[in-house]
Amino acid sequence: MPSYNLCILGFGNVGQALVRHLQLKTTELREQYDITWRLTGVATRRMGWIADSDGLDTTSLLAGQLPPVSSALNVREWLSLAQADVLFELTSTDASTGQPAIDHIRTALEYGAHAITANKGTVVHAYEELNHLARERGKRFLFEATVMGGAPVFSLFQEALPATKVLSFRGLPNSTCNVIIERMEQGKNFSEALQVAQSLGIVETDPTLDVDGWDAALKLCAISTVLMGVPIRPADVQRQGVRDLDPETLRAARAAGKPFKLVASLERTANGVQARVQPEQIAAGDPLSGVNSGSMLGHFVTDMLPGLTVALHVPDDPTAGPDVTAYDVLADFLRAVR
Ligand SMILES: NC(=O)c1ccc[n+]([C@@H]2O[C@H](COP(=O)([O-])OP(=O)(O)OC[C@H]3O[C@@H](n4cnc5c(N)ncnc54)[C@H](OP(=O)(O)O)[C@@H]3O)[C@@H](O)[C@H]2O)c1
Repeated sequence: MPSYNLCILGFGNVGQALVRHLQLKTTELREQYDITWRLTGVATRRMGWIADSDGLDTTSLLAGQLPPVSSALNVREWLSLAQADVLFELTSTDASTGQPAIDHIRTALEYGAHAITANKGTVVHAYEELNHLARERGKRFLFEATVMGGAPVFSLFQEALPATKVLSFRGLPNSTCNVIIERMEQGKNFSEALQVAQSLGIVETDPTLDVDGWDAALKLCAISTVLMGVPIRPADVQRQGVRDLDPETLRAARAAGKPFKLVASLERTANGVQARVQPEQIAAGDPLSGVNSGSMLGHFVTDMLPGLTVALHVPDDPTAGPDVTAYDVLADFLRAVR
C-alpha cells in the first residue's frame, strides 16, 4: 500500500483544516483508496521549517504544540529533510506577483513532489510554466481550491465535461463580500460586517484583496487562463469592490427584491475576453439569485451547454469556509496520487 509523505507550507485556516480532514479520513483513505499518509513537514514564517521524515504528531500540531525546527534553511532543504512526496502550498495570496508561492511550487516540482495549492496567485501568474514543469517531471500541479473553494470548477471541466468550450462565466465567487453585503443589509456598518467575515475564517490575510474586488478578479483570471485558454492578469479586469457601498442603498435594494451582490463576469470576445467585477443588483429569477451569506455560485455558458450553474452552500460557521476549501485540497491530493 503506497504511503505518502505530506508537507504543508502555510498553516493557517486552510492548512489546519486540511490536517483535520486527513485525520478524519485516514481509515477511509486506507480502506477504500489504498492510501496511507504521514505529515512529515510543516512550515510558516513564524513557525520555521519543521520536518521529521518519521512523521509529525498532527494532534499536537493542531493544539499548537510545536516540535523543534529543523536545520533546513529553505524550501528545498525542508522538502528533502521531510522526504516529501506532496507539497501543499497554502500560504497567503499575493495578488500582484503570486510570490513566493510560485517559487515554492517550482521548487517542489523540481525536487520531485506533487504540488497542490489554494493560492490563486500561482495560477494567475505562472500557470503555463508550472503546468509545463509538472508534466515534464511526471508530477501534478493542482489548484481546485483556488476558485470557489469546495465547489468543483477545474476538475469538473477537465474530468466531466471534455471538449466543451467556455463562452462566458458570471458568478459570485467571493464569499467575504456576500457576507459583508448581507450584514450591512441587516444594519452593521462596513467594518463590523468585515469583522463578521473575518470571524468565519474566509477573509484573505490582507482583507483589501476581498473588499476591493482583487480576489474576484484573480478568480476570473484563473478561469480565463485555465478554462478559456486566454491568459489575463488582474490589471486586465475592470474592477470595483464593495468598500463604498452605502448601507441604506443596500437595504432599499433588498427591500425592493433586487439585492446587491459583487458580481464577477467574463465573456469571450473576438479579441480575447472581457472581464469585470462590480456590485450589481440581482433580480429574482437570475441564476445568481438565492445565494446567501458565505455561499458561492458560478454560472457557465459553453458551446455545448447553454447554462450550467455550480453552487456551494457554506453555513455561517467559523470553520465551514476553510473546511470546504481544504476538502478541495484533499480531493486534489487523491487526484494526484491515484
Ligand atoms: N480561507 C479560505 O476560506 C480560503 C478559500 C480559498 C482559498 N484560500 C487561499 O488559501 C491560502 C491560505 O488561506 P488561509 O485562510 O489559510 O490564510 P491564513 O489563515 O492567513 O494563513 C496563511 C498561512 O500562510 C503562512 N504564510 C504566509 N506567507 C508565508 C510565506 N511567505 N512563507 C511561509 N508561510 C507563509 C502564514 O504564517 P506566517 O504568517 O507565520 O508566515 C499562515 O500560516 C491563501 O492563498 C488563500 O487565498 C483561502
